Order: sequence, then C-alpha cells, then structure tokens
Amino acid sequence: MERILEPELMLGQEQSLAYARADFEEPHRRVLEEFQSVFGDELDGDVLDLGCGPGDITLRFARAYSRTRLVGIDGSPAMIALARQEVEKEDALKGRVSFIEGIIPDAQIPPLPWQAIVSNSLLHHLHRPEVLWETVRRCATAGTRIFIYDLRRPPTPQKAREFVELYAAGEPEILRSDFYHSLLAAFEVEEVREQLEQAGLDLTVRPIGDRHLVVHGVM
Ligand SMILES: C[S@@+](CC[C@H](N)C(=O)[O-])C[C@H]1O[C@@H](n2cnc3c(N)ncnc32)[C@H](O)[C@@H]1O
Repeated sequence: MERILEPELMLGQEQSLAYARADFEEPHRRVLEEFQSVFGDELDGDVLDLGCGPGDITLRFARAYSRTRLVGIDGSPAMIALARQEVEKEDALKGRVSFIEGIIPDAQIPPLPWQAIVSNSLLHHLHRPEVLWETVRRCATAGTRIFIYDLRRPPTPQKAREFVELYAAGEPEILRSDFYHSLLAAFEVEEVREQLEQAGLDLTVRPIGDRHLVVHGVM
C-alpha cells in the first residue's frame, strides 16, 4: 500500500480537544518505557519534544526525569494552548516545562545543548519527512540522544481498519478517523531507513509491536 498523506498540522479546535482527551495511557507509557530501555534512568538538562501536541509526552518525560527541563514545539496554536493549560495544573512542573508555537523546519528553536531530542507521532504527519531529520541534525550536538517514535504503515487499508477497531473502539469518530488516516500516512521501517541514510544520520530504526517503529541513537 502506498503512503496517503494527511493534513500536516492538527489545527482544528475540536480535533485538538478530542486528541487531548483521548486515552493514550497505554501507548504513551510504552513510549517512555522504550526510551528508558534504550537510554536508562539517567537524564538531566534540556530536552526538546518535536510535534508535542497537547503535551502529554512532554509532561511524561518531565515527570520521569526530574532533573530535566522540557521544551515542546508544535505548529498548531490549539495544541499549544492545550499543552500550556496542562502544565498549569501541575505545580511541580511549572518552570521546568515550556511550549513554543512553531512549524518545523522554520520554528525558532532555542540553540540549547539538548541532552535529548524526542518526538512521538510527528513523523507520519510530515509531507516532507526530511524536515524532521534536518531539524534533528541542526539542533543536536555531540552526545544528544535522539528518540523518534511513530506509527508504522500497515500493509493494507483493511489492516488499518482492524487496528482502529482494536485500539480505538470506544473513541469519538473524529479520533478514529484521524487514527485511520495516520496509519495510512505512516512510513514503513525500510522507508525510514532510507530517509536516515539520505540525511547522513547514523541512527537505528526498528519495528515495535504491531503498529509502531522507533528511531534512536546518540549523535
Ligand atoms: C499526532 S500529534 C502527536 C502529538 C504528541 N507528540 C503526542 O504524542 O501526543 C502530531 C502533532 O504534530 C504537529 N505537527 C505536524 N507537523 C508539524 C510541523 N511541521 N511542525 C510542528 N508541528 C507539527 C501537529 O500539529 C500535531 O499536534
């Protein structure tokens, strides 16, 4: 099955709210567990979260690694507003987590010595995936840990529909539809391997479970 693009930014108010309210407890816990299994329990300093959406992954990193400062970037004003509301609810995280509205690759990303650059579910949104790898290359310095987690494209639309039934059965229709289109827009492992090769990035890519992939390594 060929990749079918979906809109790059999640700009809609209703769409952003449905995404922010969705139950991502299990998949997002797995993202953190995978990071910990690759990089261990020690992480401090500045961490960049690309395509942070409403901030759930950003906040999970901040909670898991208490000596980090997190910066989340997203091109959707609705998503950034939701992310800022979330951090306001947790006194312990205020001052350690901030969000910037900006579209990759043009976003104004502070030139900090990033200890880690992380991202979940951004890659499949990008019409030109190379902008993610250009951004990683531009923002990373020697020793930056890179961790990009995403959906993996299933072999057929039928399989994508099965995943929607299996993993989003009780979710609102807008979320189910987004999930379906995200699966069709996602990359296969081999395609990501080619992107990394073209970008000259020496990172590992491998499948995770039935519908995800992860890219990781140290610059
Ligand atoms: C599926 S959401 C993932 C949000 C979050 N990382 C998570 O795991 O919950 C993808 C996000 O990427 C953002 N996005 C897509 N293309 C982008 C770009 N070029 N620059 C910045 N953000 C982008 C969208 O607006 C959306 O909020």
